[in-house]
Amino acid sequence: LGNGLAPTPQMGFNDWNAYGCNVSEALIKSTALAMHNNGMQAAGYSYVNIDDCWLTSSRDSGGHLVPDPVKFPDGIKGTADYVHSLGLKLGIYEDAGTATCAGYPGSLGHETTDAQSFASWGVDYLKYDNCNNTGVPAQTRYTAMRDALAATGRPILFSLCNWGQENVWTWGAGVGNSWRTTGDISASFSSMLSIFHSNVGLASYAGPGHWNDPDMLEIGNGSMTDAENRSEFSLWVEMAAPLIAGTNLTTASASTLSTLTNSRVIAVDQDSLGRQGTMVSSSNGLDVLAKPLANGDVSVVLFNETGSTATITTTAAAIGKSGASSYALTDLWSGSASSTSGTISASVPAHGTVMYRVAGGSTSGGTSVTGEVHAVGAG
Ligand code: DGJ
Repeated sequence: LGNGLAPTPQMGFNDWNAYGCNVSEALIKSTALAMHNNGMQAAGYSYVNIDDCWLTSSRDSGGHLVPDPVKFPDGIKGTADYVHSLGLKLGIYEDAGTATCAGYPGSLGHETTDAQSFASWGVDYLKYDNCNNTGVPAQTRYTAMRDALAATGRPILFSLCNWGQENVWTWGAGVGNSWRTTGDISASFSSMLSIFHSNVGLASYAGPGHWNDPDMLEIGNGSMTDAENRSEFSLWVEMAAPLIAGTNLTTASASTLSTLTNSRVIAVDQDSLGRQGTMVSSSNGLDVLAKPLANGDVSVVLFNETGSTATITTTAAAIGKSGASSYALTDLWSGSASSTSGTISASVPAHGTVMYRVAGGSTSGGTSVTGEVHAVGAG
């Protein structure tokens, strides 16, 4: 969307994956303070986002949305003021239907009133869900809110949440800053893996200001191992996905925080070229992805989907690099440096990932298994 926002994928927190409907002002404020103090804000996470269940069950007599006064005693405005005082931004949730997924009042038909409420409270981000949509085409419903947000004059990042329905990637660039490409993620390796496979082929639709969104991170949740958590983060980064942490950041473990804040890895997601990485090869559960970067380097992910350790091998040529007798490799998780004349290979643990930044020679773009190129709308 050409609103100047999300020139690189948005980074932040959302409460849904860890807390479901149990959102509150206290939770949002304590999370914001934790992010301010635990390295998350410094690593680039700037949005603190409220999900479903912040509303009362009906609008006021003037037709305005009413924040639940028990959950949000200072309202959304008071919550936003606190989040802003820390140098962070506040996100909110609504739904492009008659009711949210949890049954609270939806914005369909109330777009102008609700966008004005959000702007007046100091909201910086809207996640816009798709429940109870009465069958009105998604593009119509989401465009109405896009226009209502624009009319407020406040910069509000617009995150479309219609679960990949109606081929949202074909029209999303002109409507939102990002669009969900799948149904909801859950905190398991299998869920993460299936969403990765759905999202990875959509690279040609993504770019600065308009990103494919494979859903929020589950790092720190459920029974995912450290290796699986690093795989999720590596894959989301390589796919230039929004990085929205979905775990309890007030009690997050050192390993969860170190995965979420690795600056070498985050730099690949936030690279200014804004290209989503593509699958270079994939066989027997051993995947190689490549993402060209603004300075001519290429980020390579070697991902082992299988349950046993395996060696994964590619070449500089296969990832679009040529013309040098030696290429420099930086292991992005460990920081260690090495070089190669062309072969790029690593032993990768079960469900694990090795990630390199490859420098040297010249770079050809567009290396991809599918090789498809799609036009995108103004965005
Ligand atoms: C469905 C969305 O996909 C989830 O991310 C979450 O926002 C829930 N709705 C909330 O009801």
